[in-house]
Amino acid sequence: MDQPPRILMCPPTYFGIEYEINAWMSRSRPSDHAEATRQWQALREVLVRVGASIEEVLPVKELPDLVFTANAGLVFRNKVVLSKFLHPQRQREEPVFSEWFMQHGFEVVPPPEGISFEGAGDALFCGETLFAGYRLRSDASGHQRIAETLGCRVLPLELVDPYFYHLDTCFCPIDRETALYYPRAFDEYARRALQEAIPRLIAVEEPDARRFGCNAVVVGRHVVTNTGCESLHHQLREHGCEPWATPLDEFLKSGGSAKCLTLRLDGEDAATWKFETT
Ligand code: ARG
Repeated sequence: MDQPPRILMCPPTYFGIEYEINAWMSRSRPSDHAEATRQWQALREVLVRVGASIEEVLPVKELPDLVFTANAGLVFRNKVVLSKFLHPQRQREEPVFSEWFMQHGFEVVPPPEGISFEGAGDALFCGETLFAGYRLRSDASGHQRIAETLGCRVLPLELVDPYFYHLDTCFCPIDRETALYYPRAFDEYARRALQEAIPRLIAVEEPDARRFGCNAVVVGRHVVTNTGCESLHHQLREHGCEPWATPLDEFLKSGGSAKCLTLRLDGEDAATWKFETT
């Protein structure tokens, strides 16, 4: 059998709502630490159940968002392009992730100069194309340069809704020809580009999108989301997927859910490069 899918997570020891850098976060709505810990643990257990092998980066005091490992960088084969966060509060995570990747045998590629880039939060492969969200967190020019470095095609997608500020909050590749998206998070041009590029594009309804349904972890045909995404789960079943629900409300308070709490270390299942034998 193939190697199990490898996923990077970070325990929520120091997770909390300590600053406000997106529309979901408010210091007047703190997260419950014990509940966040239970929810994170339950997510980890579901991922193990669907066959993933979990690796962990050690939590660091005063880095409450380090739990969102999706933002560590963009993995491509044995390379990782590190993130350059837009907000200074999260820039302090950069050396922690960089160190972890170096110690775990990745070729660490620094982000292009003078741009912001938030890793797999804003850059996701579907087939051979890198779909890249820009405007709210990452810069379009950075994606262009990263794609040149990796030698892949990039499709820039403008994000327009502050509640869907990272691409992985409104777009989720399922396999090489299938993806979820929340149409209203994109500008008109990006919507059309997605419709042309992806043969089976599943539009997620607003209530499910607001429950972060698009922020799903895909392991083979298993799709793991927050609870309260019933219509989406129905849509997923119709497409031959097996949906799983696990409560992640404490992380929604920070503007994150299942996918944000994970980073695929061996490439997303939807990425063609993962299956090339080079
Ligand atoms: N509080 C974090 C931030 O605003 C949440 C990050 C969510 N990550 C993601 N990949 N969407 O940066």
